[in-house]
Amino acid sequence: MEATIPDLIRRHDVPGPRYTSYPTAVSFHEGFGEADYRERLARADESGDAPLSLYVHLPFCAARCLYCGCNVVISPRRSVSGPYLEQLLRELDLLAAALPRRRRLSQMQWGGGTPTYYPVSDLVRLFGAVGERFTFTDDAEIGIEVDPRVTSGEQIDALAGLGFNRLSAGVQDFAPEVQAAIGRVQSEEETRALVERARAAGFRSINLDLIHGLPRQSAAGFARTLEQVLALRPDRVAVYSFAYVPWLKGHMRRIDPGTLPSPGLKLELLALAWEAFTGAGYRAIGMDHFALPDDDMARAAESGTLSRNFMGYTVQSASDLVGLGISAIGDVAGAYVQNVKKLSDYAQALAAGRFPVERGYALDADDQVRRFVIGEIMCNARLDFAEVERRFGGVFERDFAAELGALAAPGGAMADGLLERTADGIALTPRGRPFVRIVAMAFDRHLGAVNAGAKPVFSRTV
Ligand SMILES: C[S@@+](CC[C@H](N)C(=O)[O-])C[C@H]1O[C@@H](n2cnc3c(N)ncnc32)[C@H](O)[C@@H]1O
Ligand code: SF4
Repeated sequence: MEATIPDLIRRHDVPGPRYTSYPTAVSFHEGFGEADYRERLARADESGDAPLSLYVHLPFCAARCLYCGCNVVISPRRSVSGPYLEQLLRELDLLAAALPRRRRLSQMQWGGGTPTYYPVSDLVRLFGAVGERFTFTDDAEIGIEVDPRVTSGEQIDALAGLGFNRLSAGVQDFAPEVQAAIGRVQSEEETRALVERARAAGFRSINLDLIHGLPRQSAAGFARTLEQVLALRPDRVAVYSFAYVPWLKGHMRRIDPGTLPSPGLKLELLALAWEAFTGAGYRAIGMDHFALPDDDMARAAESGTLSRNFMGYTVQSASDLVGLGISAIGDVAGAYVQNVKKLSDYAQALAAGRFPVERGYALDADDQVRRFVIGEIMCNARLDFAEVERRFGGVFERDFAAELGALAAPGGAMADGLLERTADGIALTPRGRPFVRIVAMAFDRHLGAVNAGAKPVFSRTV
């Protein structure tokens, strides 16, 4: 007999990572420091002239949304954002000096926080500084995150003029009761104005973010939000699962846990999004994205070239990713590196001419195989065993017998109909797609050590 939804939730709604990296950031440690980062940059520079991905973290927001899990600096006054920009330019200089031969970018993303917290003149200055040191490939993906409540038409036009071609805007939910509960009031009109302006300015791909699992969400209210979003016809939509982590983000304690939807309702909201978007011609992509069939993300998903990194699902992801700004994460020559999170530490390191590295992680051979396996599951919802053997050697079914056995055991993902064996490996079933993190977790060698700690770490998978 097929497992019921309550059975599935009981067995599979557990804390788990979102796998924007493997190993996840929880495994990064302070034993990996600036000297290690410099050594990896040198290796990356020697490896040829393949293009890079560049992430720039602009952390400022005028006010905090109660659900926010990002690394932000709330600053209603602008006294700290000016010095931060100067420090960012210094870090950019250090980076360019460390990469004399790797100066092409196939992808650049400005995220936050709210990058459009900065006025046009600062955005132009920062973009110009990157452009003086790096060149963009012809088809480079140049993206920015914007908050419709604070982003002006002039900023949109200026960004398009600079060369930004992808824009991602936060919506979360249009229902007034939800907006009140999350401390983020944003009208449909201001969102429409932003989307129309971006389209007119020439942005090639416009993404809207929604979240399911927010306080006071209901099926009827979310269905209305989905209609309102569909009316804007974004090229892409992300429907993130609310990561409720009050032990990490103290401001989330201001959300009354009694107002959060049950796991069953949370799953129902995702199912509503699934029906609404696929019914309107969007392709379902990865764990939480939808894209129109002619958008690059849908094409990448179809051709199996979608990838996942700290920016989420991406199309033009390069082999090496470098990050600038507080908390930014890089992925360079087989190692992850993360910057310090505090503004004061960031300023101090750069004043001394040092990369502001806080921690990192060098992947070993086993990590590399598992990173590929987990990436395939998260991006393509399937795994071809022969492909793993071709890339890394070994015999998949022998080397991963324990993992496959656990998935097939009673109460495991395969036994519960979330995952099936195929001619060449394993694939998630349609009902298994919302539980993709559970399947990925079966291949995570670090999870045991992380969960053995006294403190909770990850949000729940449903
Ligand atoms: C840096 S923010 C977006 C940019 C801009 N500051 C805004 O709010 O419109 C990126 C996205 O992360 C998502 N997000 C933030 N906190 C989250 C959480 N705790 N759980 C799930 N998604 C979250 C939201 O959908 C948000 O739009
Ligand atoms: S959701 Fe966006 S605007 Fe709200 S606090 Fe987070 S980064 Fe800032």
